[in-house]
Amino acid sequence: MLGFVFAGCVFLLLLQRLWRRLSDKALDGLPPGPSGWPWIGNLSILASPHRHQKMFDAGQRFGGILTINLGAVKQVWVTSHKYFQQALVDRVWEFAGRPHGFWVTDATTKLFPGILASGVDKTSRNVRRFTATALRSFGFGRTSLQNVILQESEDLHQEFRKHQGVPFNPRDQLAHAAANIIAFITLGRTFRQGDEGLQFVNETLTSGVKQVINSQRDKMFPFLRYVPMKSRKVFQESFKTGKSFLENIIREHIATHEVGQPRDFIDMWLDERQKGDSAEDDFALERLANVLVDIFSGGYETSTTTLQWLFAVLLHNPDIQEKIHEEIKSAIGDGIQIRLDHQEHLPYTHAVILETLRKYPPAPFAVPHLATEDTTLGPYRIPKGTRLMLHLYSIHHDPQLWERPEEFRPERFLTDDNKVKEPEYFVAFSGGRRTCIGEQLGRKELYLLFANIMRSFRVSLPPGADLPSLELMQGAVLYPRPFMIVLEER
Ligand code: HEM
Repeated sequence: MLGFVFAGCVFLLLLQRLWRRLSDKALDGLPPGPSGWPWIGNLSILASPHRHQKMFDAGQRFGGILTINLGAVKQVWVTSHKYFQQALVDRVWEFAGRPHGFWVTDATTKLFPGILASGVDKTSRNVRRFTATALRSFGFGRTSLQNVILQESEDLHQEFRKHQGVPFNPRDQLAHAAANIIAFITLGRTFRQGDEGLQFVNETLTSGVKQVINSQRDKMFPFLRYVPMKSRKVFQESFKTGKSFLENIIREHIATHEVGQPRDFIDMWLDERQKGDSAEDDFALERLANVLVDIFSGGYETSTTTLQWLFAVLLHNPDIQEKIHEEIKSAIGDGIQIRLDHQEHLPYTHAVILETLRKYPPAPFAVPHLATEDTTLGPYRIPKGTRLMLHLYSIHHDPQLWERPEEFRPERFLTDDNKVKEPEYFVAFSGGRRTCIGEQLGRKELYLLFANIMRSFRVSLPPGADLPSLELMQGAVLYPRPFMIVLEER
């Protein structure tokens, strides 16, 4: 029996050696990477609950750039700021593509992709530029971006007051606020608890993400495409329902839209269709629904989970909470709603948000990029069509860039004269041509919602409860494990 086990181990070892040799040969100029196992390659890194630490360690071992094998797919992973800068900032378009089929697909997405899956062609660039500007500069008459967020902040406070003194998990309330901010800007309406809109956000986006996971699995192991799975159909149906909800809202807008009088993003899009020859194609209505799905997908979970992480951080560091409160009290005073123009007087509060985004970046792998032409990165040859992954988490935990990166220290974002400074290697929103298009909105939202919660409430742990786990849970974004809090009005 023992001899049999021994022979088995030797066989596996030889198989792995052979695999390693074959995969090294197949690299053909790509960066080297950790040895994997036959068939699954390096799946054990990404499937591990400690995937971020493992990727970080592998990145350190291979000099900040490495090739990862996942079944039939090879990916180049960048884990250092040096290669991040070279790939995204110095090269402009060479790595600005997106791999085909990495994002939710339906009958329209191939011809009319939204933002996330769009390429580097002229139409995609036009649409991306238009959407980024619209989100950044949103505001009509008295409806400014600030007012939209502050209104949601007020509603959030009302909801929080209902839970005062009683342990509860704030995720639903935070998610509702994040969804409503995007819904108001894009659709001109907000959602009430239990209505179709919130269902769209929760179910459609969840099923979209599950479709993405399925399609990645099928890419790695192509034979799975031929295995019938009920889940595929369920997710597609749920996604279809969500899209038709958006299409109904677009139809309502078309019926009531007045040219030059935009009420929201949909109206701005309808206005844009009227400009010039190619505008009607670039700004096709089929594309609009896909763009809306992407704006919700990009902005909903990222902001919600960052606010959740902020609560977890406060529970772990009561002194930080008191420092924030002291800052607000002395710089702004009691009972005054915090606005954008107060931000320069609240450097510590701002630094706590940045440190949370550094330590727990909600999109730690960014979004997959694609080499749009044969190119190089450092000494390596990167053929057109190679998938490039940016591990933002590794950059945010690199001890050569950040002193004691494992510690939560907001002061690292403050200068000696108490001003906020953001180093160029703070990359929570990524960088270059495909950088987050909702960055400005996201930053304003986090600051206004968080600072106003801090102004009004004291956050504590329910009696007898353990501190929230700081384990990194990877789903569509980087989640904390669910936890309860107690809020008391200050
Ligand atoms: C905490 C807030 C947020 C963080 C940390 C964040 C982070 C990111 C990151 C890392 C990317 C990937 C960029 C790349 O591919 O290199 C991204 C892309 C994107 N984000 Fe955000 N995001 C946030 C909020 C938002 C908001 C509020 C919106 C919209 C309302 C949004 C919409 C998008 C879209 C549409 C993309 C895809 C851009 C493209 O493919 O060209 N994000 N975001």
